[in-house]
Amino acid sequence: MKIPYLPLLKITQSFEPHLSQAVKNVIDSGWYLLGEETARFESQFAQYCGVSDCVGVGNGLDALKIILMSMKLQHDWAADDEVIVPAHTFIASAEGIVHAGLRPVFCDVSEDDGLLDPAQVEKSITDKTRAIMAVHLYGKVVPMDAIREIAQRHHLKVIEDAAQAHGATDASGRRAGSLADAAAFSFYPGKNLGCLGDGGAILTQDKDLAMLCRQVANYGQTRKYVHDTLGVNSRMDEIQASVLSVKLTRLDKDNAYRRNLARLYLNGIQHPEVKLPHGGKYDAGCVYHIFPVFSERRDALQSWLAQNGIETLIHYPIPPHRQRSFAAWDQAEFPVAQRMCRTELSLPLHPCMTQEDVLFVIDKINQFSC
Ligand SMILES: Cc1ncc(COP(=O)(O)O)c(C=O)c1O
Repeated sequence: MKIPYLPLLKITQSFEPHLSQAVKNVIDSGWYLLGEETARFESQFAQYCGVSDCVGVGNGLDALKIILMSMKLQHDWAADDEVIVPAHTFIASAEGIVHAGLRPVFCDVSEDDGLLDPAQVEKSITDKTRAIMAVHLYGKVVPMDAIREIAQRHHLKVIEDAAQAHGATDASGRRAGSLADAAAFSFYPGKNLGCLGDGGAILTQDKDLAMLCRQVANYGQTRKYVHDTLGVNSRMDEIQASVLSVKLTRLDKDNAYRRNLARLYLNGIQHPEVKLPHGGKYDAGCVYHIFPVFSERRDALQSWLAQNGIETLIHYPIPPHRQRSFAAWDQAEFPVAQRMCRTELSLPLHPCMTQEDVLFVIDKINQFSC
């Protein structure tokens, strides 16, 4: 038996013939950027997430960067003003801050779920803090009430990095993307809502911020060949938008299926050396973009599963503050984040995986020798 981590071709084919038709329609339209397909997807995704505005951009990193560049302009933040970001995340969360000319302040994460820990956030605030970036890692929403309460008390902005959380909800059923001043999404092909290349989106309820983000994403242009601010070129293209409109129609169903598979993992994995995510508790709002398990013998477990035809990945082997690109932060210690990087293993979980596949993975984990 072979269980790939993410069979992208199979997932793409499961949307046929609708994807090919959508792409062909764009080809035949002769209009490839800043057109109706992007406007349609922006409005569908804004409505899906429960916000007024969505701005399609080139990728998730750009979404973060453009939000922060725009907030910096809007509120006159200084170079090197600070943004708090979890020490356990994909590198893009921190890179977006640096590219906007701001300074990332890493903050350790909670033992329970690897998400931003409100107590640690509070300790990281200085006179220069301007914003908090909450990353809904692995598909689980950060406790946003607590984060927003801290932000309000200190007059800070809150940004969601929702690149792994399409359709995820908080305890009161509000969707990721609607829980802060602005949110960034990635539609990288492997995401729960992924396109056929790069794509990203900015969501917000703030009309002025949305307009500024749209300008910054398009060379800072206010009217044709009139540029009021320095911008970048980062726009969602019509083909990706048409693909996303097709795939959005199945997102809730796919997420529900992922939750069922996650429940099987949670009920079935019983091994003294393998820790389940979120203390083993099922989370009805989580969209299980990644199903992480944790083991002090992670590398041996990964080899054992590979010997049995099961492909796994690690999210992430090195925390951002220990990457060479962030050498200035190298001496910092974030014990929980560092332990997660040492022990995390991501199991296969996707909409084309069968229950039998999951039961096979569970069996092999439970047979892993102590
Ligand atoms: C948490 C997180 N933030 C940001 C990004 C960046 O998205 P993109 O790859 O579209 O630039 C990713 C993508 O993998 C991510 O997982």
